[in-house]
Amino acid sequence: MGRNAILEKHHQDDEKLYGNGRDILLHCCCGPCSTASLERLLELDWKPVLFFGNNNIYPSNENDKRYDELLKVARLHDLQVIRAPYDHANWLEYIKGLENCPEHGERCIRCFEYNLRQAYEEAVLLGISHFTTTLTVSRFKSSKAIFQVGESFEGFTPIDFKKKDGFSRSVLLSKQMGLYRQQYCGCEFSDLTSTENLNILDKEDNSMQEIFNRRSIRDFSNRKVEREKINRLLEAAMQAPSAQDQREWCFVVVDDPEKQTLLSRVSPYSRMIAKAPVTIAILCDTSKLKSPDYWEQDLGACTENLLLEATHQELGACWMGMAPMQDRMDSISSILGLPDFIKPFALVAVGYPQEGKGNRFIDRFDRSLIHFNQW
Ligand SMILES: Cc1cc2nc3c(=O)[nH]c(=O)nc-3n(C[C@H](O)[C@H](O)[C@H](O)COP(=O)(O)O)c2cc1C
Ligand code: SF4
Repeated sequence: MGRNAILEKHHQDDEKLYGNGRDILLHCCCGPCSTASLERLLELDWKPVLFFGNNNIYPSNENDKRYDELLKVARLHDLQVIRAPYDHANWLEYIKGLENCPEHGERCIRCFEYNLRQAYEEAVLLGISHFTTTLTVSRFKSSKAIFQVGESFEGFTPIDFKKKDGFSRSVLLSKQMGLYRQQYCGCEFSDLTSTENLNILDKEDNSMQEIFNRRSIRDFSNRKVEREKINRLLEAAMQAPSAQDQREWCFVVVDDPEKQTLLSRVSPYSRMIAKAPVTIAILCDTSKLKSPDYWEQDLGACTENLLLEATHQELGACWMGMAPMQDRMDSISSILGLPDFIKPFALVAVGYPQEGKGNRFIDRFDRSLIHFNQW
């Protein structure tokens, strides 16, 4: 099989190719990226030897910081880290003339080459026949580009660590371990303002975690939801913005099992209500409408507020859309005895999530959806 064909096969399913236990030198760019990569290598029965040689990282105390975080990860797995002496001047010489290339361009390819060469030489020195890199875990770095560079070094083992949600896993594990996560790629030419760097910053450090962790929860434990918590959800719902401040929302809180059973049948997608401790019907008081066309937008904002507060209260919740489906709205009106001027908008099932089925971060960032100033 030619080298390209092997590469292609690695892309398809690296587990099938690796998994029979061998020594491998793992070039580690930092602690956070090493978490999921290491986990994956161990799952695949590799015996990793960790190598930190990242002369691209600037300044030197940043290099130290990233090394220190890697040590924490290594300790967890009872592994040692080999550190190459720091020599940023040597790296600068290697990328000379490419300083002003934008991130992801030629300079970065040369930088990959520098780091992979160093890892290759270390592997040769140690008599380890395989080596790979954690660089592929980043969703901001093209694994294909890294593999193309790696191909020219004997023993390079192209493992795409971002596969199988590897990046999200690295975010989660780093968070659990309280690891420092850098806010730029590495060198002094890294783009500090790129949306991707800001994205890392926001989601993992500064942002409202509930927004990122909220999920639709459909499996609940039997634990009763405290009335104070329900009140808190409704307070959050009522804080939503609305057109002309019309605040046309109102609510029915349902915990009567018979009514829950009836509500669970109003749509094929609302079955989980039968087993939910509480369901909140989110309704529109049409007598309050000043901007009638905006009622669905207002109640959408109100529902999202409620879901975010539920996440904050460690509850699970699921939004079930009802309006504008008239049959579903009519069923709800009849089950809850709503007057004519009250229109059902949505049902939200609420409860404590069943173990292992709670809110969790899923990475949905897609930079291709963002345009600046014009399409
Ligand atoms: C307007 C709207 C209607 C929805 N209706 C239902 C529904 O009837 N049943 C259901 O199980 N989930 C429903 N969902 C939840 C979506 O399926 C869910 O948000 C989506 O799959 C993304 O998953 P996440 O909420 O875990 O991020 C609805 C969500 C919205 C915003
Ligand atoms: S931006 Fe990152 S990958 Fe590119 S040259 Fe700098 S350190 Fe290397």
